Amino acid sequence: MSKAKLTFDGEEYEFPVVEGSEGEVGIDVAKLRGATGAVSLDPGYGNTGSCQSSITFIDGEKGILRYRGYPIEELAEKVSFEEVIHLLVYGELPTQSELDELKEKLNEYAVIDEGIKDVLNGLPRTAHPMAMLSTAMSALETYYSTTGSSDEDILRVIAGTNTLAAYIYRYKEELPYVSPSKDLGVASNFLHMMYGRPDEDPDVDEVVAEAIDKLLTLHADHEQNCSTSTVRMVGSAHASLYASIAAGVGALSGPLHGGANQAVLEMLQNIQDDDGDLEKYVELAKDKSSEFRLMGFGHRVYKNFDPRARILKKSADEVLGALGKDDPLLDIARNLEQVALEDEFFVKRRLYPNVDFYSGIIYRALEIPTEMFTVMFALGRVSGWVSQWHEMRNDPAFRIHRPRQIYIGENGRSVQPISERGE
Ligand code: ACO
Repeated sequence: MSKAKLTFDGEEYEFPVVEGSEGEVGIDVAKLRGATGAVSLDPGYGNTGSCQSSITFIDGEKGILRYRGYPIEELAEKVSFEEVIHLLVYGELPTQSELDELKEKLNEYAVIDEGIKDVLNGLPRTAHPMAMLSTAMSALETYYSTTGSSDEDILRVIAGTNTLAAYIYRYKEELPYVSPSKDLGVASNFLHMMYGRPDEDPDVDEVVAEAIDKLLTLHADHEQNCSTSTVRMVGSAHASLYASIAAGVGALSGPLHGGANQAVLEMLQNIQDDDGDLEKYVELAKDKSSEFRLMGFGHRVYKNFDPRARILKKSADEVLGALGKDDPLLDIARNLEQVALEDEFFVKRRLYPNVDFYSGIIYRALEIPTEMFTVMFALGRVSGWVSQWHEMRNDPAFRIHRPRQIYIGENGRSVQPISERGE
């Protein structure tokens, strides 16, 4: 493909067209302002590519998600979360010896400094776990590197998030901390630190550990979403990895992003308390005078279906079956999906269940408290964040991220003394 032509103010300009490996095309407007004096305006960045990346590919029309070329369906089925970490961070699935080495390092870095526990101990137990996680991540920086760009930092952030998540839960529940085990994988170690006893060997339910492992894989990366863009944005100022990840945690906590998984479960519970009146909630979501949205529905990129939601819907049945549990909220979720998918409002806007719609049902079956759902999302996504951060810092086209704006405020004026400004 050659050039894109723009006619502006009577002049014609040409811009290079960049083609990705999956045929995606972008018009390179890096020289737009210099050539024309104008900037591109794209609130919400729906049409803006902020970087070239070789980590994750999404085709929202076809419902495709791949990490480094591998389909999410295959990864969820065939590999462990540690293998996914290796794939995202280093670019390839590991050999057995590479995997062993990675696991060893993750277990080494899972041990966090006593001072971090003191930081957590100073926070109100009523605080939201995502606010605590962000605080604790910032605190990690004070103990380790200030540049945060080494392999050790990358793995410490991943392993540290796991430990911090469990510690936050234990602190809120007023339970003694359980140290990470040297012999477990990420998911099992998390469960051990959440539910084990400080003085006992790990005893982790395999079914639960496998379900968590799959959830971590499904949440691991999703190209330039809100939290990942935040991580890249903060890192672009050469702020440390820890500071960047702390900011990413903040972005993920929002209910329009990762916080939706908690909001979905609360919505399903409200529907149950309302005698299962689905229609009421569907009508409310369609009512433009209300701010209510069907949580877990819609996606900026997926306009067909979210492949992660499809995997999780099946997984919810399997996990509940394996644990011998029955959850009325799963029936409500299935019925709500059915009603919404047949309703013209949702069909026209191409609103389908997203990753957050079914994940909460699984977390609930695994007895993860609702407030911890978004932290579970962060446990997986942190592997994507560090990989994206690293790619950004090594990109030869790197520049500090600094968008422009179109100013629509007052024109230049001068300050009046306060005595002359009236009542
Ligand atoms: N319920 C009802 N209406 C919706 C919903 C929803 N969940 N999502 C979008 N719409 C409507 C909007 O009102 C809008 O209608 P209009 O065209 O008549 O004005 C139209 O669909 C398009 O919506 P936008 O907000 O423009 O879509 P956008 O791409 O900006 O937002 C988002 C995507 C934030 C995910 C949105 O669909 C939403 O708020 N969903 C609910 C929250 C949620 O589940 N978030 C998790 C997303 S996945 C993740 O981050 C991991």
